[in-house]
Amino acid sequence: MHKRKLKLGGIIDGVGWSYTGWRHPAMPSDASENINYYVEKAKQLEQAKFDTIFLADVSHIGPGMIPHYLSMFEGVSILSALSMVTHSIGLAATIATSYADPFTVARQIASLDKISNGRAGWNAITSNPGGLANYSRTHLSKSDLYPMKKEFLEIVEGLWDSYEDDAFIRDKVKGKFYDASKMHPLHYRGNYFSVDGPLNVSRSRQGRPVISQAGTSSDFMDIAAKHAEVIMAPGDNIDYLKRYTAELKRRVKDQGRSPDDLLMMPSHSPIIGRTEKEAIEKLKEIESLMPLGYRLPRPQFLGSAENVAEQIEHWYREGIIDILLIRQDYPAGFEDFIQLVIPILQEKGIFRTEYEDDTLRGNLELPYPENMHIK
Ligand SMILES: Cc1cc2nc3c(=O)[nH]c(=O)nc-3n(C[C@H](O)[C@H](O)[C@H](O)COP(=O)(O)O)c2cc1C
Repeated sequence: MHKRKLKLGGIIDGVGWSYTGWRHPAMPSDASENINYYVEKAKQLEQAKFDTIFLADVSHIGPGMIPHYLSMFEGVSILSALSMVTHSIGLAATIATSYADPFTVARQIASLDKISNGRAGWNAITSNPGGLANYSRTHLSKSDLYPMKKEFLEIVEGLWDSYEDDAFIRDKVKGKFYDASKMHPLHYRGNYFSVDGPLNVSRSRQGRPVISQAGTSSDFMDIAAKHAEVIMAPGDNIDYLKRYTAELKRRVKDQGRSPDDLLMMPSHSPIIGRTEKEAIEKLKEIESLMPLGYRLPRPQFLGSAENVAEQIEHWYREGIIDILLIRQDYPAGFEDFIQLVIPILQEKGIFRTEYEDDTLRGNLELPYPENMHIK
């Protein structure tokens, strides 16, 4: 059986996913709201042939949150800007199904998909119930989140197939703009949402945007098994990840899908040096920005580039990493990974030297989704 090469994703989270990363001398302290910073990182990741940029999100904030969450860009807005300065890398935004409106999300992500010429992804998460108070949904509670997510996904997928691929004729001579028989309204009636459709955006070159999801509960897994193509997974414990992957793939099979069509994407913050010692020094350097007595959890991928590349290869061959999603705790985290680890992964033959395609789906080697109305 053909085994996919390893895929890479990069989370750009501004000043970093920590309380004190913004204090590092090499980190612009306004990075989370600095378009030039995002452009620079996006170009860096694309030059290194990463499959996708990935933006996490938060749905409510307050005192005590990490600085990045306190003042950050909205995901689709920033990815639209990044789509104009990149050509092949994927652009995936997190939008919670608990708070947004499915017609709006279908439209936003489909628009991003067309603007970027087939590179959009959507990370569909429930997020935590705190957001209910920001989105006028205090009449709902935690137990509503997964039933709502199920409806949300059915609606968005339905709306994305509003038009068959050849629906638009645009024949000026005959005066025929489109073929109305290839337009499909949805008429969805659920407990939470009611949407007639159709969507006023046609399908992109990759058919539909790539859907990722993140969560751990059994309710999460049932919905992911049906609707997810990528799983953003907690990456800090190999034994847990093995069990989690096996369980998800079992449920995917029960849905009649190939387990191979679900990609596992654990997230990591690697800290890499030329030597073990250099990596530990970098860890200590960021720990020194924290209040006295605080320590960072030891990153799973910490050490010399050779050792980290070996470990990544091991996780990849075990089938628990299809996409390695990295965020940078250390301000030069992407740079170190790109300069020191990627050449070793390429030498091992498990990571690309050129993009195979210029759609996200194509680079991830995910199947093209036929329009549900022509099956
Ligand atoms: C790996 C991972 C990444 C997540 N990323 C986000 C995120 O970016 N924003 C957010 O609001 N919630 C995020 N969540 C939280 C989930 O949306 C969800 O609220 C949480 O996992 C509880 O649901 P569960 O019991 O099904 O896991 C993440 C969860 C996991 C496991």
